[in-house]
Amino acid sequence: MKAVLPDVMTAKLQELLGPSGFLTDAESLTAYGQDWTRIAEPAPSGVVLPTSTTQVQAIVSLARSHKVALVPSGGRTGLSGGAVAARGELVLSLARMNKVLGIDPVGRSLTCEAGAVTAMVQEAARDQGLMYPVDFASSGSSQIGGNIATNAGGIQVIRYGMTRNWVTGLKVVTGTGELLDLNKGLLKNNTGLDFRHLMIGSEGVLGIIVEATLALTTPPANPKVLVLGVPSMNAIMSVLEHCQAALPLLAFEFFSDLALDKVISAHGLQQPLQGRYPFYALVEFEEVNPDVDREVLALVEKCMASGWVGDAVLSHNEAQRRSLWRLREDISGTIARWTPYKNDIATTVAQVPALLARVEKLIETRYADLEVVWYGHIGDGNLHLNILCPETMSVDEFQQHCKSVSTELFTILADLGGSVSAEHGVGLLKKEFLGYSRSQFEIDLMRSIKREFDPDGILNPGKVI
Ligand code: MLT
Ligand code: ZN
Repeated sequence: MKAVLPDVMTAKLQELLGPSGFLTDAESLTAYGQDWTRIAEPAPSGVVLPTSTTQVQAIVSLARSHKVALVPSGGRTGLSGGAVAARGELVLSLARMNKVLGIDPVGRSLTCEAGAVTAMVQEAARDQGLMYPVDFASSGSSQIGGNIATNAGGIQVIRYGMTRNWVTGLKVVTGTGELLDLNKGLLKNNTGLDFRHLMIGSEGVLGIIVEATLALTTPPANPKVLVLGVPSMNAIMSVLEHCQAALPLLAFEFFSDLALDKVISAHGLQQPLQGRYPFYALVEFEEVNPDVDREVLALVEKCMASGWVGDAVLSHNEAQRRSLWRLREDISGTIARWTPYKNDIATTVAQVPALLARVEKLIETRYADLEVVWYGHIGDGNLHLNILCPETMSVDEFQQHCKSVSTELFTILADLGGSVSAEHGVGLLKKEFLGYSRSQFEIDLMRSIKREFDPDGILNPGKVI
């Protein structure tokens, strides 16, 4: 692969895309060459911003004939380095292909270009009294194509599942420049292998997503949030079990006291409860009927009597619901200044207590002197274990230490049949650890599938596999 664009290709890109569609200034190279990980110095050779599928196909053909690597790029909010361009690649940003193309209120679907921002899609659905339910803190800048390429999860997976569950159609340009029109928005289509599902979560190594059809649903009735102070992670699991049985859950999240402390100090927010607790559960549920409030009260009383909960607060209006959510949603952004080493791990919900018991021991011994911030989607079996880099340690030394602990953590996960990347993807960051979750046979199969879709290896080379 070439690290510098050949002159003849540069000239053709200029002709194809015009000055606003082909950027090589230093500021753009830096901005488009990295995602939220900040793990590598951005060093792309250029940034192309096509406005049509035909232009994407032309760019792929040029890249193929000149052996230039392409990095497909969405909102670059990823946390695994999947959209990083640090080796002279050409970044192909979908940012100018950002239109909602249509909504079908009867079929309950929305079709958009890949660069449509998640929040814009959610708003377009809302305008029709419907909802696109995949949601996360980065909805204001993440793009649908990127969400699909990483099979993004988020805060309501317990109720609605991951992005994969909502994609009914995909248009994808492969590494040969071929346009695939996959599943065409159909709800029923049993016609052999479904390539749509290969593309979802493929992190740009098989094709460039240019258009998607998404299923929509009915918005929940009057969502409410309950924040509970909890003495231990195991108590959270008991609370989860009882909440699952008693409430129409929309989310079941958790965070540690250190996570709460960082958010409250950084943003000057109010403590949600009178006292402090080692952990907090944030439970969102739908108020489907007026009895739900009584059921919540009974549930909280039971949890308190059992010693699983020390205190609780319930939102009574939308403003309160939103401010309670901030305690959870602002964690990631708040701790970014400590260059956290992020572990995005998962087991089945049933295995979470076993995972916790072993991970807590590992942290006590191997991270004894470091700040460890826990949070995540515990109702999905997905924990985010973030280790903060102390000011006294260099980032390199810190990363090396954390990597060595990760191998121990991932051995535990492998033992429990868990995942080394629950929702952030593999990208560059988890590539060397993929073998803890996937067999060598599976990884080899992934490589041979890539060769079919991208015979010249121009699509996001060096990522995932
Ligand atoms: C979250 O759950 O807040 C996101 O996955 C981001 C993160 O893990 O930092
Ligand atoms: Zn998350």
